[in-house]
Amino acid sequence: MRETDRVWLRCWQFSYITLLLLYHTVTDSVSGLVGENVLLTCVYTNDFPLLENVTVFWYQKDKPVFYILDGVPSDEYQDQMFTGRVLSFPDQYKEQNFSIILKNIQLSDSGFYDCFIPMVGFKSQVHLIVSVLYPLHTQNKSTQLLFIYLTIYLAFFKSC
Ligand SMILES: *[C@@H]1O[C@H](CO)[C@@H](O)[C@H](O)[C@H]1NC(C)=O
Ligand SMILES: *[C@@H]1O[C@H](CO)[C@@H](O)[C@H](O)[C@H]1NC(C)=O
Ligand SMILES: *[C@@H]1O[C@H](CO)[C@@H](O)[C@H](O)[C@H]1NC(C)=O
Repeated sequence: MRETDRVWLRCWQFSYITLLLLYHTVTDSVSGLVGENVLLTCVYTNDFPLLENVTVFWYQKDKPVFYILDGVPSDEYQDQMFTGRVLSFPDQYKEQNFSIILKNIQLSDSGFYDCFIPMVGFKSQVHLIVSVLYPLHTQNKSTQLLFIYLTIYLAFFKSC
């Protein structure tokens, strides 16, 4: 392989990996700025039916965020870092929607949030990213594309 071919190949690989990383973060997470409220989604979508008064646990790692106990929202057991900051929507429970809103988010709230429904062994996860400036994946499509073009351009320009 000639030297120039090798450089092009390396450049292509670099750009390709950059694109993959960018698009991965676009799909799996929720982002917000410090002080904002964010919706953490948990919708049960499996076929196996849920009983009427379902129990759902929201956790951030080992910290309880919010519980729904036999269909009744409860903030009794939550970690104190979430006190007064979680909104639940009981009118949505029958739609199998156990999403919560976390209010006034802080940098320390960043992380993975798990929603468990023990009775049916269901779990879904949301990655919350809190920042002080708008991160890439919350910007709109044109800004994102611009950034991607810029990355590729720089990659070629510097011969990777
Ligand atoms: C669900 O909870 C309500 C209110 O506590 C109760 O009246 C009802 O019987 C419960 N349903 C089932 C299936 O346990
Ligand atoms: C679930 O409930 C929340 C809060 O009411 C709502 O914002 C969201 O759109 C609902 N999601 C679905 C899929 O219905
Ligand atoms: C989206 O991008 C367009 C074009 O760059 C810009 O005019 C608009 O303000 C942006 N919208 C948001 C919500 O950032």
